[in-house]
Amino acid sequence: MLPPLEPANPAAPADAAGHTNLLELPEWQAFRLAIEDATFCTDELRLVEAAGLTVDLSAHVTSPATRDAAVALLNARGFDQARQALLAGEHVNKTEDRAAWHTMLRAPDPILEVSREHQRVREFVQQADADGRWKAIIHIGIGGSDWGVRLATDACSGSGARRALKFVANIDGHALEDAILGLDPKETLVIATSKSFTTTETLANLRRAVAWLAQAGIDQPYEQVVAITARPDAARALGIPASQVFEFWDWVGGRYSLWSAVGLPVALAVGIDVIEDIRAGAAAMDAHFAQTPIAQNAPAQLALAAVANRSVLGYGSLSIAAYDARLQFLAPYLQQLDMESLGKSVDMAGNPVGVPTGPSVWGMPGTDGQHTFFQWLHQGTDGAAVDFIMCREADHQWTEEHAMLLANCLAQRQTLLQGTSADADRDHLLAQGMPADKAEWLSRHRKHQGGRPSTLIVLPRLTPYALGALLALYEHKIFVQALIWGINPFDQWGVEAGKKMASGILRELHGQEPDASHDLSTHHWISVLAQGR
Ligand code: F6P
Repeated sequence: MLPPLEPANPAAPADAAGHTNLLELPEWQAFRLAIEDATFCTDELRLVEAAGLTVDLSAHVTSPATRDAAVALLNARGFDQARQALLAGEHVNKTEDRAAWHTMLRAPDPILEVSREHQRVREFVQQADADGRWKAIIHIGIGGSDWGVRLATDACSGSGARRALKFVANIDGHALEDAILGLDPKETLVIATSKSFTTTETLANLRRAVAWLAQAGIDQPYEQVVAITARPDAARALGIPASQVFEFWDWVGGRYSLWSAVGLPVALAVGIDVIEDIRAGAAAMDAHFAQTPIAQNAPAQLALAAVANRSVLGYGSLSIAAYDARLQFLAPYLQQLDMESLGKSVDMAGNPVGVPTGPSVWGMPGTDGQHTFFQWLHQGTDGAAVDFIMCREADHQWTEEHAMLLANCLAQRQTLLQGTSADADRDHLLAQGMPADKAEWLSRHRKHQGGRPSTLIVLPRLTPYALGALLALYEHKIFVQALIWGINPFDQWGVEAGKKMASGILRELHGQEPDASHDLSTHHWISVLAQGR
């Protein structure tokens, strides 16, 4: 039952108020009906090439009608104009009146402030390498100021890490305790990454890290601190030398910031060429996205399949199955990128979208996931859409094991799509001498129903370039999904209330009179915990 449509929001700005709610679009109804009537075509190969990646869409429902309806839907949503506005740095983030210009960060010929900051990063890394400075780095940041750094460092450390890179994101004291274990403060650089430079976890962890440096006898601890932020003034006011404050800008979303100076710790850990190649791969995907017609546009096609799976076929989640152990952080990275962008329920006019929007995103590398939750994927009542990712070439010499890895990826994908035959299984059990009634009963438990959608994304090998192309593919896919649903993928108002509440509860834990608005349970635990302090 869809929520009733609220009246158009009088407060919405003119352009947002002019935005048509999805349910009012005949092109949406046509797309929805076409998807409902479509089937899997296991004898059809649907490949899209983009920036060196191959995207295989064969395991999604399709038909000539869905393909026509998809183009009509995107055109009805003003795809060309919206794409141009995004890439031109227009204020597409309407609720914050900002651009979302992450593509400029990796443009081959970026604006002066971007190229200047890239150069500052390059020089800082080259100087540190030349001086042999810093055996270890403690990277302090959370969310978009953390996941991309972890992912890129982990995925691209094949050429060997030049420095130990330890991550501190959580405010849990164990995070910092674990990070500093065994480190020599005099040989450790602390990097604080925070777009706002107000995130309580990051500022608290930074204070602790600086205290750790000071306690080790370092007179000017801030000389060993780097800040990467859109608030350079706040970082400098803390005492961090201006030469060690690197800037990105309000028009870069936190979860879209890896391409900026946020890549500095990656460069210190695994080399400046890694972040430059990551940017080059993303730029190639940007060019594909910008120039390719819808039918062969990989981000657009992925978005259409994702909207069909979520809003028509009813899959509530998307599982990320990267068949490469070096992509263990891809799922959490995409979790934030997708869920913080698409976890919205009102359209640009402030009205309920009217269909289910952003799915929950989760997963882990294959083949680990096969021994963790693939039972649910195959035989659970809901199932999920799955993004399989594999690299044709390994970066190790274990060729047989790599063949086994890829065989598992393909096998899981086919089994989700085609399922298994209960009749064939029953005959097999009968042939083994099992009584007919038991064979019938057991075959029902062993059946894989199939008919579960998936995408396969194939990288030639896991290079920084391919990683950059992959991440940009997902950024643009998410942008197109938001365009279809009519939501803003670039704000994150939903994280503010909890943060504000936490600050109030913290004061109450320190003895301030509890707020009368707490529910009884919250009030109870604040009282219990405050007493224990
Ligand atoms: O989770 C909310 C959020 O603002 C994210 O969007 C962001 O990546 C993270 O917190 C960290 O924010 P900052 O980079 O400003 O410390």
